[in-house]
Amino acid sequence: MSSHPQFSLAGRRALLTGAGGAIGTVLARGVAASGASVVLQDLTPDRVSGTCEEIQSLGGTAHALGSDLADPTNCASVVQQATELLGGLDLLITCAGINRRKPIDEVSIDDFNAIVAVNMRSVFFLSQAAHAPLKAAGNGSIVHLSSLSAKFSFNTIAVYAATKAAVSSMTRSFAREWAQDNIRVNCIEPSVVKTEFTKPLWGEEHRQRWFDATTPIGRLSAPDEMLGAVLFLASDAASYITGQSIVIDGGILAGADWDSYLDDK
Ligand SMILES: NC(=O)c1ccc[n+]([C@@H]2O[C@H](COP(=O)([O-])OP(=O)(O)OC[C@H]3O[C@@H](n4cnc5c(N)ncnc54)[C@H](O)[C@@H]3O)[C@@H](O)[C@H]2O)c1
Repeated sequence: MSSHPQFSLAGRRALLTGAGGAIGTVLARGVAASGASVVLQDLTPDRVSGTCEEIQSLGGTAHALGSDLADPTNCASVVQQATELLGGLDLLITCAGINRRKPIDEVSIDDFNAIVAVNMRSVFFLSQAAHAPLKAAGNGSIVHLSSLSAKFSFNTIAVYAATKAAVSSMTRSFAREWAQDNIRVNCIEPSVVKTEFTKPLWGEEHRQRWFDATTPIGRLSAPDEMLGAVLFLASDAASYITGQSIVIDGGILAGADWDSYLDDK
């Protein structure tokens, strides 16, 4: 049985940043499989060329772009190149992100600036550059990769969490200003997804136990489990949804088990 046409991205033209990463690769494949033509961007083209070839071999359209989004002047040129390659732009998905996990006292100015440059500043200037082509397309959509840490932080990620809170905040501000241009802006806020990016968190046995005990679903998520929410927000199935963050956390924010502290447990 095929999916409902509301969830289709057929004919859409999409730019995905950080598309060579664990989550970005899953999203690239999924967005293309839903019918969109894609430009896959990452630090270097070779990080996305394999996924591009895979999409092309299945009959889809995919282009690779390499550039460093930590340099704000590259944000506008990435959007411009993607728009030219695709003949327009209907969808922007911002997936590029970095972290440097350290206690607050050890965070240097370079650490702070590096994290802010990719996670926050590039999201602002990519979106700003995408405004005109998304408006021209007439049914634009933006989906950002924010994080549960926008709402619920852990030790050693103070700067990262602040940038993700900024992404969730920008989601609302941009949604407010651009609704009149038929551009919807939403984000997802995942808790820890089991990837190389987060291996320092789940790789340690005591942290794995913490996640297992604190997450009602009882395990960490996989990158594939980010796809459904992103496709939903990107598509016409979410045509009246803008300025929203979808938390994907296996139920962490749903509450706690107060009997877990009983002596006999
Ligand atoms: N993995 C998780 O647990 C998790 C949870 C919540 C949110 N997120 C967010 O999801 C997104 C993807 O995470 P992931 O787990 O796939 O990480 P990842 O490290 O696998 O992917 C991130 C990608 O961004 C690219 N990138 C980094 N700096 C860049 C720059 N300056 N210019 C261009 N590209 C750059 C990297 O090359 C990489 O391919 C990130 O924004 C991350 O903050 C991840």
